[in-house]
Amino acid sequence: MRAVVCKELGTLDRLEVVEMGDPDLLPGHVRLRVLASGVNYVDGLLVQGRYQIKPPVPFVPGMEVVGEVIEAAADVESKILGARVLANLGFGGYATHAIARADRLVSIPDSMTTGQAASFLQSYLTGWFAFVQRLGDNPANPAANADKWLLVLGAGGGVGLAAVDIGVALGYRVIAAASSADKRRLALDRGAVHAVDVSLGDDAVKEAAKELSGGGVDVLYDPVGGTFGEVCLRALREDGNYLVIGFVGGIPKLPANQILLRNRRVTGVDWGAWAMRNPDANAAMLRDVIGLIGEGRLSPVEPAAYPLSRAAEALADLEARRVAGKVILLPD
Ligand SMILES: NC(=O)c1ccc[n+]([C@@H]2O[C@H](COP(=O)([O-])OP(=O)(O)OC[C@H]3O[C@@H](n4cnc5c(N)ncnc54)[C@H](OP(=O)(O)O)[C@@H]3O)[C@@H](O)[C@H]2O)c1
Repeated sequence: MRAVVCKELGTLDRLEVVEMGDPDLLPGHVRLRVLASGVNYVDGLLVQGRYQIKPPVPFVPGMEVVGEVIEAAADVESKILGARVLANLGFGGYATHAIARADRLVSIPDSMTTGQAASFLQSYLTGWFAFVQRLGDNPANPAANADKWLLVLGAGGGVGLAAVDIGVALGYRVIAAASSADKRRLALDRGAVHAVDVSLGDDAVKEAAKELSGGGVDVLYDPVGGTFGEVCLRALREDGNYLVIGFVGGIPKLPANQILLRNRRVTGVDWGAWAMRNPDANAAMLRDVIGLIGEGRLSPVEPAAYPLSRAAEALADLEARRVAGKVILLPD
């Protein structure tokens, strides 16, 4: 098999594509021929040693793949052979083949393309966890949010675009903030009511959100952070909730006086750690989300595709904000 290997933590160009022996098939596991590997912003942080978890080297990045089951361990039912499945791996996804636990494989609705299936998981489960588990939104009652405004930062990126899609499905009126026309178009296509150009400046986005929502938004979904998050906190109305999602623009220093004023709330969202501690609840959440995708109530973006051998380029483009939506790697 071939894989993208991180032999030492450092710059993205140190990633190497290497031929390696096929790993052993453990009991309870299957071997997948990878059809597409999902690329996440976090992968780039891990490779560069800039994430809170520093994996031991060497390692193969890549948390989620779609693959065809080509071999099953003796204790796994052979009827699974040939199936197109989604596997949430942790590591090892940037490869032509992967080993995955059979009991954690997820079947994919026919209506979902391989690209969508390989790239939605982290972004959508983060969003679902944030709204349903952390905020307590009821997916069966979107009418409860009919008067509520949601401002999504980084709304043309993976996590932000998923939040737009989920927010619309949960009944919010969504304002999407993004830097390019392509990114804003993707958000509007998913049902955002307004799209604001972030290149106008942090204050302009805050003021636009306040004006468009008639005084302030109810929820702020922030995967960007930095000064942008600090400024946009002020766009929240009375009792509004700031969802802390990510820090691509730096860790924001939220002014406590602005949280006190208007009785605002700040809610932390750490889906990854929660999912590790609660694998069964996470699997149930994944089934719920896939069910809604199958029904057409959620619409993950069709990702941009790069060859596996250009994984470093894909990660660099993501980090430089050149990607609208999501990215996958295809074996070449
Ligand atoms: N809390 C959780 O459980 C959880 C789970 C998964 C991911 N995350 C985090 O969510 C964040 C976003 O991930 P993602 O997959 O959405 O990334 P992404 O696809 O690269 O999107 C991030 C967006 O942020 C914007 N941005 C603003 N300033 C930026 C900067 N300095 N560098 C890069 N992007 C910048 C860009 O939009 P514009 O060009 O439009 O400004 C970009 O499209 C990451 O920090 C990730 O670690 C958190």
